[in-house]
Amino acid sequence: TQRTLVILKPDAVARGLVGEIIGRIERKAGWTIAAMELRTLERAALEQHYAEHEGRPFYQPLMEFMASGPSVVAVVEGERVIEGVRALAGPTDPIAAPAGSVRGDFGTIVRENLIHASDSEESAAREMKIFFPRFS
Ligand code: GTP
Ligand code: MG
Repeated sequence: TQRTLVILKPDAVARGLVGEIIGRIERKAGWTIAAMELRTLERAALEQHYAEHEGRPFYQPLMEFMASGPSVVAVVEGERVIEGVRALAGPTDPIAAPAGSVRGDFGTIVRENLIHASDSEESAAREMKIFFPRFS
């Protein structure tokens, strides 16, 4: 079965949306939360995590935001969970995200879009190695 790395970003924790978002994941039949922790993410881990975006204009503000307070990091396990959590999250830009998706229902601006979910098996493996090495 597949595993994916999920981050409920600092805006989700600060706005009290952890239960709401985790509830949506938990209620999906066949998905299991394999690991979950409240953690303020360190710069070094974030630099690895968002390495693909280094040099982009939004990179520094994104790093500041992601380090600004506690996040919830989790490993979710289940059938087709990688595409499944991406679908549940919705498109990156909350304005473009449909109602019913996490970003569509609660998102505000593109940087503060509440949730991260791995976008492929390769990303999931790479990201679990950063945040939950025991799953890699
Ligand atoms: P993640 O799950 O966080 O990786 O989101 P994603 O895969 O939907 O988007 P992507 O990997 O392209 O971008 C990573 C994060 O950078 C996004 O979730 C946003 O928080 C932020 N971001 C991406 N594009 C933009 C942008 O054009 N402007 C700003 N301000 N932030 C952006
Ligand atoms: Mg991404």
